[in-house]
Amino acid sequence: MKKLLIFFAVAATIASCTTASSSDQDTATAEPTASPGMLVYTKHCKLCHGAKGDLGLSGAANLSITLLSHDEITHVVTEGRKGMPSWKAQLSPQEIQEVTDYVLTLKK
Ligand code: HEC
Repeated sequence: MKKLLIFFAVAATIASCTTASSSDQDTATAEPTASPGMLVYTKHCKLCHGAKGDLGLSGAANLSITLLSHDEITHVVTEGRKGMPSWKAQLSPQEIQEVTDYVLTLKK
């Protein structure tokens, strides 16, 4: 009986340790995905451009090798260009800035 109690005590200690450390990891890994630009990109842009920017669905430009500057990307996203939709009706100017910053992080 004593042995059983010790087993439970040890099991409870191990369980509380693992819960504590896994929640620590959650906060650490959640940090980069919390970028607002990435959320906008995942929601609106990934469909055609892909997670890494190089999917090229329906002629979408490869964003990982874009030569456009920050201002030019902002302009294309705001106004659209050929097959690229205009986003000014769906996204706020701030969201467009954030997604532009994110697009530049896709460059190799
Ligand atoms: C319906 C598919 C589609 C979606 C959704 C889409 N794009 Fe595009 N995108 C395109 C196409 C097609 C082009 C190429 C346009 C051209 O040939 O002029 C393009 C071009 C671009 C370019 C120009 C790159 C360069 O080097 O010339 C940028 C920047 C861009 N897209 C960013 C975005 C962002 C940011 C979003 C999300 C807010 C987005 N796109 C959503 C289809 C899409």
